[in-house]
Amino acid sequence: MKKMLCVAGAVMGIMLLLISPDAGSQTAPNQPKEKEFRIERSMPPEAAACIECHKKEHPGIFADWANSRHASANITCYDCHKAEAFDPDVSKDHDAQYKDYDKKYGAGKLTVPVSAVVTPKDCSRCHPDEAKQYGISKHANTMEIIWKIDPWLINGMNSDFERAAGCYHCHGTVLKVKDGKLDPETWPNVGVGRINLDGSKGSCTSCHTRHRFSVSEARKPEACGQCHLGPDHPQIEIYTESKHGDIYAAQGDDYRWDSAPGTWTAGVDYRAPTCAACHISGTGTVLTSHDVTERLAWELQSPLTVRPSEFKAFPAQTNWETERNKMKEVCKQCHGKTWTDGHFEKTDKVVQEYNEVYFKPAKKMLDDLYAKGLMDSSRFFDEKLEVEYYELWHHEGRRARMGAAMMAPDYSWWHGFYECKKRYNSFMEESRHLIEKNQKAYKATDFPNATGSTVKPEAVFGKTE
Ligand code: HEC
Ligand code: HEC
Ligand code: HEC
Ligand code: HEC
Ligand code: HEC
Ligand code: HEC
Ligand code: HEC
Ligand code: HEC
Repeated sequence: MKKMLCVAGAVMGIMLLLISPDAGSQTAPNQPKEKEFRIERSMPPEAAACIECHKKEHPGIFADWANSRHASANITCYDCHKAEAFDPDVSKDHDAQYKDYDKKYGAGKLTVPVSAVVTPKDCSRCHPDEAKQYGISKHANTMEIIWKIDPWLINGMNSDFERAAGCYHCHGTVLKVKDGKLDPETWPNVGVGRINLDGSKGSCTSCHTRHRFSVSEARKPEACGQCHLGPDHPQIEIYTESKHGDIYAAQGDDYRWDSAPGTWTAGVDYRAPTCAACHISGTGTVLTSHDVTERLAWELQSPLTVRPSEFKAFPAQTNWETERNKMKEVCKQCHGKTWTDGHFEKTDKVVQEYNEVYFKPAKKMLDDLYAKGLMDSSRFFDEKLEVEYYELWHHEGRRARMGAAMMAPDYSWWHGFYECKKRYNSFMEESRHLIEKNQKAYKATDFPNATGSTVKPEAVFGKTE
């Protein structure tokens, strides 16, 4: 952070007007009206060329950038999109754009290699702390996690295309080049765990969309809601239902969203927390962190709820008690100790009841059916009871736990424990029926699209076959 301010400071120091926007006075209807901006430092002619040409070619991109903090700090297109001619993701067609342009400014002098892909490694040149924290998070490492534990992938139960259209939009793709161009099955993509061709993991644009890259946007719940929604992880719905979300809906327009990074203050800038306020932004003595595993005491998404350090596929290097205290410190900006402790006692009790009353007996029953040979464990989802068991923990069980942790009683009960009971009873009834009759479960013989590759991505796991 200190380093970043230095850069900005140095930039402000040298006042040299290079490009002044002429668009403001002669803006045609339906053209973006960009904010006045001044280039406060001389910039290399290569970088000025990007701006001049792209302002005409892509007024939307230009306006977004011109309105960003980057533009005020004289961070140019070239600072982020710079590439080497030999980079696998270099844009091979781009040189051709310079043909006529270069004639005007001296043949060939301005042509430089660029890449459309801008990775956490590129951002890390100026934001090393954020990139480092992000790099150890479950966001950045999700491709490793899902390929270790997810039966859709491990058993090949959906097609590669279904994955590209669904899973990978949120989790990220393994970027690939095909015939010299980015492979359309892997690009465009801004999933949280995208594996980039420079070896870095993730995409900072998942929350800070280009080319504004604003903290204001990332502080709002909608930035997370694109992925954190739906039957299996309805965090945005839970938030909307909570008192905190009600207050955001009623008064969010009055919150101060753009206060400087690290200074966004509970009570002063916002009256009730957003996702970012509880999970990422600095508050009280707790520092901002781009590692979203911090502040968590449970793995609420897991079949059996465990501590983050006990999560086998990707054990966190955290101590749950320390992290619980950090989360409590967030609450204590606005609530007393008794209120805060009471909330977490309730959450922990919900976790315990889910684990003991619902999950463990269901898991034991499933294991029994496999052991008795009444069900086949070689593939998941092709027998009805497997789906029932899955929905018990993956849908209803998660909703009960997350609803309780984030103050949404409707999710905790009606979408949560109530549904768990229904599911549990029908799962147990059918299981006992099979055991009584010593009857093998029906197995889908024409399971649709169970054609996906089961080879773990080489870019993450190395060669495995
Ligand atoms: C003379 C005009 C011109 C200049 C100068 C220019 N570009 Fe472009 N650039 C274009 C056009 C036109 C496209 C869109 C091509 C298309 O849509 O197929 C493009 C595409 C791009 C893309 C997307 C490439 C892809 O593969 O998707 C990036 C990134 C980019 N330019 C960055 C830059 C940067 C950075 C600079 C300065 C170093 C720059 N451009 C200079 C005209 C220019
Ligand atoms: C702070 C870094 C940064 C700056 C500055 C920046 N870009 Fe980008 N740009 C990105 C990122 C990140 C993406 C998304 C690509 C990704 O996900 O890897 C992107 C994507 C693009 C794309 C391809 C996406 C599309 O919608 O076609 C173009 C073209 C582009 N930028 C042009 C520009 C131009 C022109 C400028 C200067 C006016 C500029 N960029 C400034 C980071 C930057
Ligand atoms: C060449 C250096 C440089 C690069 C590369 C760079 N940034 Fe920045 N960034 C800065 C500076 C300097 C500031 C501070 C600007 C200010 O405070 O006015 C900043 C500010 C930001 C902010 C805070 C904006 C706000 O609203 O206060 C975000 C978010 C950000 N950058 C994200 C990114 C991302 C994501 C990337 C990569 C895609 C990136 N930056 C690449 C230099 C850079
Ligand atoms: C709409 C975005 C989205 C889609 C589509 C999506 N996921 Fe997820 N996935 C998430 C989010 C968000 C979480 C985090 C849940 C949590 O921690 O509460 C998650 C969690 C997971 C986890 C648990 C990871 C852990 O740490 O235990 C696995 C495994 C997983 N997803 C696999 C998949 C697969 C495979 C697909 C496609 C068949 C898929 N997801 C589709 C957003 C998505
Ligand atoms: C999961 C969402 C998310 C992702 C992904 C993300 N950020 Fe952020 N980022 C935030 C939030 C929220 C803030 C606001 C923190 C605050 O309130 O001050 C922020 C703030 C920032 C800031 C302002 C300084 C600071 O630390 O507060 C920079 C710079 C930044 N992010 C860079 C990055 C870079 C670089 C990446 C990729 C390595 C990245 N971000 C990925 C959510 C995200
Ligand atoms: C582009 C999709 C996407 C966006 C946007 C996104 N997330 Fe996530 N998030 C995921 C996925 C996928 C996972 C699951 C990773 C895993 O466990 O494999 C996840 C996991 C998490 C976790 C659980 C971490 C853990 O250790 O169990 C938290 C907390 C989280 N996200 C918070 C946020 C917040 C807060 C924001 C917004 C500021 C946000 N996310 C934005 C996709 C996203
Ligand atoms: C009032 C603070 C608060 C707000 C607001 C909030 N959360 Fe949470 N969140 C929590 C707490 C507390 C937990 C449970 C922490 C633990 O493990 O003890 C949690 C758990 C989670 C988890 C589960 C992590 C896991 O174990 O898999 C995810 C994912 C998550 N939150 C994302 C979000 C998203 C996305 C939003 C906004 C839509 C949001 N949260 C809003 C406090 C909050
Ligand atoms: C920025 C201030 C702020 C922070 C931070 C904050 N809250 Fe709140 N919270 C509020 C306000 C304001 C209300 C509404 C109080 C009322 O109903 O009068 C509220 C309400 C609640 C409620 C009542 C819910 C209901 O349905 O009545 C609970 C429980 C709660 N918060 C727990 C927490 C926990 C736990 C944390 C930390 C993980 C937290 N809050 C963080 C401001 C905050």
